[in-house]
Amino acid sequence: MTLILGLETSCDETAAAVVDDQQRVRASVVWSQHELHQRYRGVVPEIASRAHLEKISVIVTDTLKQARVSMEDIDAVAVGNRPGLIGSLIVGVAAAKALAWSLRKPLIGIDHVQAHLHAVNLTIGDAPLPAAPTPHLGLVVSGGHTCLYLIRSPTDLVLLGRTIDDAVGEAYDKAAAILEAGYPGGPAIDRLAQTGNPDAYDLPRSTLGRDSLDFSFSGLKTALLYAVRGRPQGRGKSAAFPRSAADLSDTQRANLAASFQQAAIDALFIKLERALAQLTAENNPPHALVIGGGVSANSLLRTRATSFSQQHHLPLRLPNLAFCVDNAAMIAGLAHHAYRAKQFDTLDLPAVATTRI
Ligand code: KG4
Ligand code: ZN
Repeated sequence: MTLILGLETSCDETAAAVVDDQQRVRASVVWSQHELHQRYRGVVPEIASRAHLEKISVIVTDTLKQARVSMEDIDAVAVGNRPGLIGSLIVGVAAAKALAWSLRKPLIGIDHVQAHLHAVNLTIGDAPLPAAPTPHLGLVVSGGHTCLYLIRSPTDLVLLGRTIDDAVGEAYDKAAAILEAGYPGGPAIDRLAQTGNPDAYDLPRSTLGRDSLDFSFSGLKTALLYAVRGRPQGRGKSAAFPRSAADLSDTQRANLAASFQQAAIDALFIKLERALAQLTAENNPPHALVIGGGVSANSLLRTRATSFSQQHHLPLRLPNLAFCVDNAAMIAGLAHHAYRAKQFDTLDLPAVATTRI
């Protein structure tokens, strides 16, 4: 039985996990820095890197303890080395190198975005899950990424479309800031939307060009801002909004959150419909739909994905809720493919801010 220790420090979660070669998660520890960033309503890179540095050792020790294994039982050390905040990535990469070197075990650098899609294969139980049939459509919806792929194998991804401005998770976070709904924004909007009427406000769904599989969320964000605060009056420095979020009633806030959520999720499914139609017309129909990343925890997204899958007879794979937002189990799990293929990295593995795919 091969065991891989994974580390993840690409943004504001310090995480470690041990995953076996059947994709069973033996332990997964995630320390979220949300409290540190809350008052800035966004991640402060400098604070994030320092916090990773302080926590990484203790998180690794806790993870091994929970998995009931020792350092020597580990067969390889994997780390999310791209993409992300560079100062944050460097902490995980340096820690992984130190562990791999001192244990004389292979080092494996993993793409964080690809790992989000792999999260659907992880299991907490004893029975391994069947891998999603290929080729399949893979949608990554997170705070930093909104990307649609055709996945030919776990390591062979073709990019079909991506956001041209904000990521969908980022739009959720900004919507929560506009509505003063709390931080982190995604779960706050999701909760607030539960009691609102999604048809109360007509907010835009971007479609871009007729055949485009790209996404855009900046127009939706601006439309929400104007719906909440009114159109700015005056010019230049003297421009001011006529209202503030504090002027909204509870019903208005819930209706705005629900209308925003419906528009954001609609925009994702417009592109999934398009991609499915295009691939089918090209005689290359996908055999499944896989969704990963923080926004795959969203209640409306999960409901809509289920009906989309039923309507198109397309098997659906969503991650366990524990593996939607950033975690290291997805890093360790995906690293098993590289381990089997003996694709190891050397100690000069770089941290890279942008993704290669
Ligand atoms: O995957 P992730 O942890 O980090 C990145 O790789 O970016 O995703 C974090 C994003 C945040 O924008 C957060 O607001 C969003 O996922 N998120 C949600 C929900 N839970 C987390 N968005 C909508 N609904 C949720 N329930
Ligand atoms: Zn992520």
